[in-house]
Amino acid sequence: MKGLILSGGKGTRLYPLTYTNAKQLIPVANKPVLVRVIESIRDAGVDEIGIVIGQTGPQIKEAIGDGSRYGVQITYIPQDSPDGLAHAVKISKPFLGEDKFVMFLGDNVIQGGIGGLIRDFANSSWNSQIVLKEVENPSSYGVAKLREDGSIEQLIEKPKNPPSNLALVGIYMFDETIWEAVNSIAPSKRGEYEITDAIQWLITKGRSVFPHVHKGWWIDTGKPTDMLEANSLVLDELTPGIAPDAVVEGSQIDSRVVVEAGARIINSVVRGPTIIGENSVIENSFVGPFTSIYHHVTVQNCEIERSIVLEHASLGNISTRIQDSLIGRHATVQHSEGKPRSLKLNVGDHSNLWIV
Ligand code: TTP
Repeated sequence: MKGLILSGGKGTRLYPLTYTNAKQLIPVANKPVLVRVIESIRDAGVDEIGIVIGQTGPQIKEAIGDGSRYGVQITYIPQDSPDGLAHAVKISKPFLGEDKFVMFLGDNVIQGGIGGLIRDFANSSWNSQIVLKEVENPSSYGVAKLREDGSIEQLIEKPKNPPSNLALVGIYMFDETIWEAVNSIAPSKRGEYEITDAIQWLITKGRSVFPHVHKGWWIDTGKPTDMLEANSLVLDELTPGIAPDAVVEGSQIDSRVVVEAGARIINSVVRGPTIIGENSVIENSFVGPFTSIYHHVTVQNCEIERSIVLEHASLGNISTRIQDSLIGRHATVQHSEGKPRSLKLNVGDHSNLWIV
């Protein structure tokens, strides 16, 4: 069994953060989503992993390396353009060979492991197994119609009248029959080789495709609101603790807070679940629940909650509470005493600001 992680794509819905960095490297509870994906595949006992990379490949390679840090062996598979998930599978043939494999979207976060799932598939004679999740609004997803024996009869993209509330999650398992499927399908209306078309092709040809219904939460971190939601869910499960060399002075720290090495919290209140990253400084501030402050961040005289602040950002002297925000790397948000009293903005393309 091998692993395949899809980390190409454009990440347009997370602009401007993804102009300069891969969306899969944005941290959720201070750990990049891609690292969470690698670890869940490894924990399921699969250590040969291919990662499909696109334009942001150099950053992904630099962050992940050869995988030895995570106890896995990584092979990078460059995709010239993001022509769809089935295209990403197609170009991975030299790496995957005839082995069974699990494919995981590099921007998805899932609760619990995938060990049971992988074992089921490895021991079955099914040609494919796909992970489904009960959702409230199936019309927004790819939805599966099941037969009485539990196998999948049909996959329908964003159906007006959904045949079930079971949506496709970004985890799929295949055997060698997938090769004929990805080589037989044509691009969809949006010009991509769709994995749902490849799976539908398997079904139509009489191959056995079975579901695994995932009971925990699952988040596709494609949009900023999804990123914040995933952050909250992961923080909720974090084991709290304060690193021995962190400094906490004159501060109130909740029991559900993680403070990483070298962080300094001075005259502040930190309410969990929250994580304060390595070498970050929180001074005269309030950090509320569901906040992830990454490494080398400075927060002075501010109140912030339910937000993600990336490395080397600096927030200072803001009188309004910052909430539901994603703040990029090296960004600064400061109060200005200068005249005239006005907003001074140096905002990148595709940024969103909500001003009160
Ligand atoms: P998507 O979120 O569907 O696409 P995207 O990354 O281009 O994002 P956006 O819609 O915001 O522009 O991709 C899901 C995952 O699959 C993501 O980790 C990127 C990866 N991917 C590839 O590796 N190759 C591809 O051809 C596509 C379409 C996606």
